[in-house]
Amino acid sequence: MLTPSQMAIVKATAPLVGEKAGDITAHFYPMMFARYPQVIQLFNQTHQRKGSQPQALAKALVAYATHIDQLAALGDAVAMIANKHCSLNIQPEHYPIVGECLLESIAAVLGESVTAEVADAWSAAYKQLADILMSAEEHLYQNNSLRQGGWRGERAFRIARIDTESAVIKSFYLVPAAGEQVIDFSAGQYIGLVITVNGESVRRNYSLSEAPGKVGLRISVKREEGGLVSDYLHQQAKVGDTLMLTPPAGTFTLGHSAVSQERPLLFVTGGVGITPAISMLNDCVHNGRPITFIHAAVNSDHHAFDVHLKALAKTHRNLNYYVIYEKPLEEDTPDAMGFIDREILSRFVPASGDVDLYFLGPKPFMRCVKGLAAELGIPHEQCFFEFFGPVEELA
Ligand SMILES: Cc1cc2nc3c(=O)[nH]c(=O)nc-3n(C[C@H](O)[C@H](O)[C@H](O)COP(=O)(O)OP(=O)(O)OC[C@H]3O[C@@H](n4cnc5c(N)ncnc54)[C@H](O)[C@@H]3O)c2cc1C
Ligand code: HEM
Repeated sequence: MLTPSQMAIVKATAPLVGEKAGDITAHFYPMMFARYPQVIQLFNQTHQRKGSQPQALAKALVAYATHIDQLAALGDAVAMIANKHCSLNIQPEHYPIVGECLLESIAAVLGESVTAEVADAWSAAYKQLADILMSAEEHLYQNNSLRQGGWRGERAFRIARIDTESAVIKSFYLVPAAGEQVIDFSAGQYIGLVITVNGESVRRNYSLSEAPGKVGLRISVKREEGGLVSDYLHQQAKVGDTLMLTPPAGTFTLGHSAVSQERPLLFVTGGVGITPAISMLNDCVHNGRPITFIHAAVNSDHHAFDVHLKALAKTHRNLNYYVIYEKPLEEDTPDAMGFIDREILSRFVPASGDVDLYFLGPKPFMRCVKGLAAELGIPHEQCFFEFFGPVEELA
């Protein structure tokens, strides 16, 4: 526990740390990777190069320090971070490494402002946050190992089938290599993939794109131009290969309260952001809940799961499916062309704004949907989204 005076010091110095957060993380990561090279492979180096992970860490730390006297205000952030950590198999022994390098970086960047008292207060604050995260993570690790078909750490899966979903997306059907039961999970969750590409061990997350309870686990991967893992999966992975997975994690899942089961559900997805929404849709479409599924793609060539969605909409009167193409091919007949806008979205949102909105896609798309949702009066707490990378600002 922090003393009241430590809390006051952390709160008072939070703006200073916030101002210099970029410099602190720029100091922290290279120092940690040089001193403890064993942690390099835990981190996605693309997120390091683009700066998205350093920014996410800085933002989390400053939010924590600012709310050190009212931790409940951190809301779902702890669960989100703990789930991401578990999908990457972060362990308690990693926390002192991060703590040492982070506290030294704060002292190095802030210089004289970090008196012995300030250093002490931040050290206690880090320990408290580390304890909160480690305990949340241990809880998730235990739950995962106790779930039907569950495990702890990594488990070998065999690629049982590969389907081409579009010009850029392939689905991989994965079954436990030693014939174990398939794990139960919540629709919308993602797995961690631990893979060696070009002699380098790397980790990536992929959403499960099929509902729980089907044969094996399915991921659907977009080939990114110059992308290390996605390119490997598209060009080299074959049926029979083994992939190492961590258990499903993530908080971007359907709410299960009685009220939300009745409320209309609105999925708005762009590009490969469709994957967790397909899992959620397949999981709940049979319940009779009114659902609208809006998907934006470049054109029919890039449009994954269209046949599946059309078939579902045909057999389920509660499902309304709407397609937007940015650059339609001559033969394409989407419901709308260009980009999603207020006029399109407003058709599917009642005047009360009372829908549960789940959205995911490229960042500009998500920024636009978030803004439109606010304009159309969808309550903030009924808007759910996830990033296919470290969390970023959508304001
Ligand atoms: C929770 C979660 C769920 C996800 N679910 C899915 C999913 O269902 N399907 C899916 O396809 N993906 C998903 N992703 C994304 C996935 O984890 C990978 O990030 C993605 O496959 C790209 O990885 P890669 O190794 O192929 O590309 P990387 O090698 O990581 O590169 C990604 C892109 O960045 C570019 N790049 C690399 N370095 C730089 C640089 N310095 N400056 C600018 N550009 C650079 C590359 O050329 C490439 O285009 C998810 C991510 C998360 C966090
Ligand atoms: C109090 C300590 C910590 C805090 C506040 C913290 C915070 C965060 C945050 C905010 C993210 C981004 C989550 C997202 O948006 O997806 C993240 C991801 C991550 N964290 Fe931590 N973390 C802490 C400790 C650790 C430790 C001890 C390790 C292990 C060395 C670690 C490794 C990672 C990795 C590998 C990622 C994903 C990085 C990526 O995608 O590139 N973290 N953490």
